[in-house]
Amino acid sequence: MLFAASLTSAAATDDAGEWIAFACGGCHGHAGVSAAESLPSIAGFDRRYLARVLREFQKGVRHSTIMGRLTVGYSLQDIALLASYYAEQPWEGSGTGADAGTIDRGREIHQARCEQCHEDGGRVQDRDMPRLAGQQPEYLRMQMLLRRAGTEGMQQPNRMREALLALSDEDIFVLSRFLASQD
Ligand code: HEC
Ligand code: HEC
Repeated sequence: MLFAASLTSAAATDDAGEWIAFACGGCHGHAGVSAAESLPSIAGFDRRYLARVLREFQKGVRHSTIMGRLTVGYSLQDIALLASYYAEQPWEGSGTGADAGTIDRGREIHQARCEQCHEDGGRVQDRDMPRLAGQQPEYLRMQMLLRRAGTEGMQQPNRMREALLALSDEDIFVLSRFLASQD
């Protein structure tokens, strides 16, 4: 009996996360795979990263155009359910195409300046850091520009800001296309 009861409540928790996530699907895709170049995919990200970022948006300490206002009404429980739901969804890359020259140059810059943290070509992610490989290209480019400019509420280690400050707009464009094109 106990076993059956705990199974039921686990299923109810999954459903609750998916239910709340209906508010997010219009921009991030129902299962967290975005179809728009300027909106990020969030499927399969570390649950703790998702929960932290959503809390930071909500508290207004993380730069946002939309997410700050959008998260105002959510309880901590809602945020935990959303984070668990998206963490369990399978990641799917953006399928962005890029020519061989762009990919080679992007890979070179990534190896020299970003790979030390964003390992395995930006595929590695954990509680501190999101996946970059296969992310939507315009979202990546905007995030890099905002962080290079040192925009308030854009979080990053000092070494990342230094790496970005060494890059031109063109480098950032190339890097965004390289990263977005990776599986
Ligand atoms: C109207 C479009 C829209 C909706 C709806 C929306 N988002 Fe977002 N989301 C964005 C945008 C745009 C960003 C980039 C930050 C910003 O500018 O607000 C973002 C960023 C994020 C990020 C950070 C991604 C990263 O790579 O760090 C997470 C996590 C996120 N949203 C989760 C959610 C969740 C969960 C919901 C539903 C409660 C939601 N979003 C609803 C547009 C939206
Ligand atoms: C010292 C480690 C470090 C280095 C070097 C570094 N990053 Fe990051 N990066 C991080 C961390 C940690 C975050 C997450 C910060 C946050 O938003 O909370 C991050 C976040 C990002 C994001 C935001 C992704 C998203 O989904 O919102 C982008 C884009 C990014 N990095 C690109 C780069 C690029 C391009 C380089 C090289 C020019 C680079 N980073 C170098 C550690 C690093």
